[in-house]
Order: sequence, then structure tokens, then C-alpha cells
Amino acid sequence: MEYIKLGSTGLEVSRLCLGCMSYGIPERGAHAWTLGEEESRPFIQRALELGINFFDTANIYSDGTSEEIVGRALRDFTTRDEVVIATKVHGRMRPGPNGGGLSRKVIMSEIDHSLKRLGTDYVDLYQIHRWDHETPIEETLEALHDVVKAGKARYIGASSMYAWQFMTALHVAERNNWTKFVSMQNYVNLLYREEEREMLPLCEVNGIGVIPWSPLARGRLTRDWEVSSVRSDTDEFAKQLYSRTDEADRLVALRVKEIAEERGVPRAQIALAWVLQKKPVTAPIIGATQMHHLDDAAAAVNLKLSDSEIIRLEELYVPHPVTGGLNNFK
Ligand SMILES: NC(=O)c1ccc[n+]([C@@H]2O[C@H](COP(=O)([O-])OP(=O)(O)OC[C@H]3O[C@@H](n4cnc5c(N)ncnc54)[C@H](OP(=O)(O)O)[C@@H]3O)[C@@H](O)[C@H]2O)c1
Repeated sequence: MEYIKLGSTGLEVSRLCLGCMSYGIPERGAHAWTLGEEESRPFIQRALELGINFFDTANIYSDGTSEEIVGRALRDFTTRDEVVIATKVHGRMRPGPNGGGLSRKVIMSEIDHSLKRLGTDYVDLYQIHRWDHETPIEETLEALHDVVKAGKARYIGASSMYAWQFMTALHVAERNNWTKFVSMQNYVNLLYREEEREMLPLCEVNGIGVIPWSPLARGRLTRDWEVSSVRSDTDEFAKQLYSRTDEADRLVALRVKEIAEERGVPRAQIALAWVLQKKPVTAPIIGATQMHHLDDAAAAVNLKLSDSEIIRLEELYVPHPVTGGLNNFK
């Protein structure tokens, strides 16, 4: 495994982050396709064996049960100092007032709930899952600063939002001497490259670590276009991100297949190698529901695409409407 600093911080993370949205009680929350605790634990153990030290979850994943499963497994299989635990806040955890969003009240409660579920005194990276259009960014940033000063988070990060919003947040934090975001968790893969326009250059110039989610387009880049899986059949958010009738996307997926066949490797390795080489990506957040998914991801770290392969992978892309859950939450 290779390790890299998260943006301009001193924090060392593996070049792969294990996405733990796949691990949670399926009957809880919005992801019916998740693996339960006993099925999930071997994935976390194998990831550690492969040298992955970076784990991403969220308070909302499977109604908090992802954090519980990940916390227990990491306690059983490794030591706290050896891993970098990232979680997120914003999603609605209960109906009614103050059940979600990024107010001071929500952040102060949710960090404690996350720590309890994870069974740890601190998270390494506390991320805002989305922009809260109904809370002043000053309120959110001051609360996050206080979370860090209370020792409950080492760093703070953000996730999918417009570049102008992220730049505003960086500026507001700097103006007030508050802790600044060190990372951006955004949606980047061969089927969605709109982040190359504004967000990726913004991150590069400002030394922000980039940790893309759904780097394999939730499996769309790893198999024939018509083929489905338990997850693709039940993943409601994916239905907003992709369409089986999108001919441009289908051709990109076909190009991944062609290059994978030329190299004699699984398609996932090609699609992930492309995200890994895209500057300034730090570590894609991978999803694994079968053991070989982890091994393919690890192999992708060592697979260097040639310039001509990168051109061929990119040349069929057609600009897409801006998406990635910028305005909605999943
Ligand atoms: N911040 C956000 O808003 C946000 C949003 C989404 C995700 N995330 C984070 O990103 C993480 C990863 O998301 P993701 O699971 O959508 O990522 P992904 O890596 O794009 O998709 C994972 C899926 O791709 C397929 N796959 C993976 N490796 C494969 C291989 N080697 N061969 C064939 N198929 C393979 C599997 O699909 P099947 O299960 O269908 O076989 C797997 O479930 C999440 O766990 C979460 O931590 C964050």
C-alpha cells in the first residue's frame, strides 16, 4: 500500500479509503443492499491486512449502524492510533426539529452520538456531508472549530457542494481564525467529471485533500451496462445518478472494458487507476461487497495508465448536468 499526506496536512492516509456505507444493518436506514455485521467484519479485517488505514462512514449510514459495526471491528482488529476514522454529519437522524442539518445544536449532539457509536474518544476527520442552506456557514464553522478544540475531531472536511460554497467556507474560517476544512469528499469518476472544472483546481491550489466517493460509479464501470446486482436494483440514489439509456456513459464503460481486456485485468482496476492518477486526488473511497473488490482496488494502486490509455478513457466523455447530490441528501 502507498501512503500519502491528506492535502497539506501532516496526516498520513493510505491511497485507498474503505467506504463503509456498504456495512450496516440493511433493515435500518436507506440502503437495503448493505451487508450486516458478521458479513461486514471480514472486509474491514482484509482492508487492514492490505494496509488500508483510512475508513469513511457517516452518522446517517444505515441509521448509525455503519458507525457501530466499523467501530467494533476496528477495536477488535487494530489499535486506534493505527487508523484514520472519518465520519460525517448533516443527514437527518430523526424526524422533527433539529433532527438534521448543520446547526450548532445538531453538530454538538451528533459528534457525541457518532463517538459513542464508534466507541472512540475522537474521530480523525469530521466532515459535513452536504451544505446546509438553512444555517449560516459561520454558525457551522464555529461549531466545528469547537469540536476540534474539545479534542473530539483532529481535522474537519467537507463533502459534495458547489465550489463557490467551499471557497466561501475556507474564506470565512480563515477570516475568523477557525479550523479550516482540509479535505473535499466529492463525486468523481469516468462517468462524472464535472468536478474538473472548478472544484479540483480549487482543491489543488489550496492544498485540500481530495477523497472521491463512488469512484467506480457504484459498479457501473465494472460490468456490462445491462447487468445488474442486488445493489444496483435497490440503490435508490444510484437511480438519480445514472441512466441505463445514457449512450455516452455506456460507451465510456465499454472503453473501460476494452482497455481492461487489452491489459488482462478486471475493469475495476482500470476505472480506479484513472481516479487515482487524476490530480489532486488523495485517496478514492472504495465500496466493497465481495472480497475480490478489495484486492482489485489494492492492485489498482500499482496500475499506472499510459498517457494514451488516459486519453482513450477520457475522449468519449460528454458533459453532464451538475449532480452528485449537491442539492439533495442521500
Ligand atoms: N459523501 C457522499 O455523499 C458519499 C456518497 C456516496 C458514497 N460515499 C462514500 O463512498 C464510499 C464508496 O461508495 P460506493 O460504494 O458507491 O463506491 P464504488 O467503489 O463506486 O462502488 C462500489 C460498488 O462497485 C462494485 N465493485 C467494486 N469493486 C468491484 C470489482 N472489483 N469488480 C466488480 N464490481 C466492483 C460493487 O457493486 P455491486 O455491489 O453492485 O456488485 C460495489 O458495491 C461509500 O462507502 C461512502 O463511504 C460518500
